[in-house]
Amino acid sequence: MFERLNTPQELFDYQLGAALTMERNVLEMLGDLEERTRSDELRRQFHHHADETRQQIGNIEESFRALGEEPDDSPCPAIQGLEKEAKANIKKADDSVLDAVILAGAAETEHHEIAVYESLIGQAQAMGRQRVVDLLSQNLEQEQHTLDEVRQHARRLAQSMPGTTA
Ligand SMILES: [Fe+2]
Ligand SMILES: [Fe+2]
Repeated sequence: MFERLNTPQELFDYQLGAALTMERNVLEMLGDLEERTRSDELRRQFHHHADETRQQIGNIEESFRALGEEPDDSPCPAIQGLEKEAKANIKKADDSVLDAVILAGAAETEHHEIAVYESLIGQAQAMGRQRVVDLLSQNLEQEQHTLDEVRQHARRLAQSMPGTTA
C-alpha cells in the first residue's frame, strides 16, 4: 500500500484497491441482507447482486492484471461506515419497517459504488486504458441497474405502508 500518492497512476491503483475492498465488503453485506429481508423478491435480488458482485471482484482483479500489477489492498472506510449505519438501523427497526430500512441502506451503498466506478472510469479513460474502462463499465452498469431496482422496490413499499396517503 502507498504511503503517499504522487502520480495519477498511483492514485488510480490505490483507488482501484479501495474498490476491491469495497466489493468484498459488499459481498458480505449482501449475504447478511439476504438473510434478514422479509421479502422473497428482495432476497432473490440480493442473491443475484451477490453473484454480480463476485464478477465485479473478478473484473477489478482482471483490471490489475491488465495494468501488470498486483491487486492493492487499500482500505475503504466509506463502505465500513455505510455497513455500520445499516446494521445499526436494522437493529433498531421494527419488522414492519425492516425492508424499508434495508432498501435505504442498499440505495446508499449503490450510490457510493456508482460514484467510485464513475471516478475510476474517468481516470482510466484519461490514462488510455481501454481494457480497464471496459471492465469497470460492466461493474458500473450492474450498479446502476441494481439502484434502479432498489428505487422501484422502495417506492412500491413506501406506497403500500399504512399511513401513506399516496
Ligand atoms: Fe458492486
Ligand atoms: Fe452494488
